[in-house]
Amino acid sequence: MTHVVATINLKGGVGKTTTTAALGEMLSGEFGQRVLLIDLDPQTNLTMMMIGESRWGELDSQSLTLAALFEGAMSAGGSAFEFDVSSIIQRAVSPLRKVRTVDLLPSSLKMIGLQERIAGAGFVSNDSTGILLRALKPVIDQYDYVLIDCPPNLETITLNGLRCADAYIIPTIPDVMSTYGIGPVQERIAQFGERWGRPIVELGVVITKYRKASPVHRNTVDDLNRRRDITMVFPSLIPEANQIAAAAEYADFGTLRQKYGAEGQFTALRDLAQDFMATAKVRLGWA
Ligand SMILES: Nc1ncnc2c1ncn2[C@@H]1O[C@H](COP(=O)(O)OP(=O)(O)OP(=O)(O)O)[C@@H](O)[C@H]1O
Ligand SMILES: [Mg+2]
Repeated sequence: MTHVVATINLKGGVGKTTTTAALGEMLSGEFGQRVLLIDLDPQTNLTMMMIGESRWGELDSQSLTLAALFEGAMSAGGSAFEFDVSSIIQRAVSPLRKVRTVDLLPSSLKMIGLQERIAGAGFVSNDSTGILLRALKPVIDQYDYVLIDCPPNLETITLNGLRCADAYIIPTIPDVMSTYGIGPVQERIAQFGERWGRPIVELGVVITKYRKASPVHRNTVDDLNRRRDITMVFPSLIPEANQIAAAAEYADFGTLRQKYGAEGQFTALRDLAQDFMATAKVRLGWA
């Protein structure tokens, strides 16, 4: 059984993409899970992190990105549309030797324009939020986890991701402004789940860029832990660290510990992945 989990927060720059990438790498490298990462953000940050700019440029020039899927669906209008998603899946993308089972569905800047066209298209028989869901069906069983990195909005392409998702996590920096968005995200996702007849389960909030010397950060984590409208705050707080920021570069860092940092950063991310699997198992059933 595959668990499909979206990473979402309407607030930008809170570590959604960094969390998605690190989770994927930990799940594969440390726990032997088969992972598909899906980059739904036209900013293409996750894609750049996973395959680097030059390989991405090649793929983009050959239309081997998710833009091809959405473009094809658009051209077909409401009529049946076949897209072989395996033709654009990038296999075993990580340069780290131990991370062997992370695949990627790459994004494209072209999705910015497509976003508007899809929203305005007025699909007749096939609705515009189900394009990704239909395309993923034939490949989904090849994975234990599908992690979907969403842009900070709830537009049609993001909804395509949520439509596939069994669950979601909300990364947040533990400051006041960054946490305002949690309630509205939960509410909207619950509404979408109802509309599509399938609940999208909240796994929890991931604390990112945590500074333990900051009273605001400490108090905000305490407040979040007390909030009853949050399923849980993952106990592993991801520290703000230069090495985590530097991990965005596509390079062979050697090991995951060398990539993310041995002063607690690697352990925090590994613990997060372990808790993530345990929580998914409890809340979604065994994978
Ligand atoms: N734990 C961390 N320590 C230091 N820097 C971090 C950490 N997590 C993320 N960053 C940096 O913060 C910036 C924003 O992170 P990221 O791109 O993951 O956020 P995002 O929520 O995906 O942003 P967007 O809304 O633009 O998609 C990046 O430059 C990233 O490298
Ligand atoms: Mg991002």
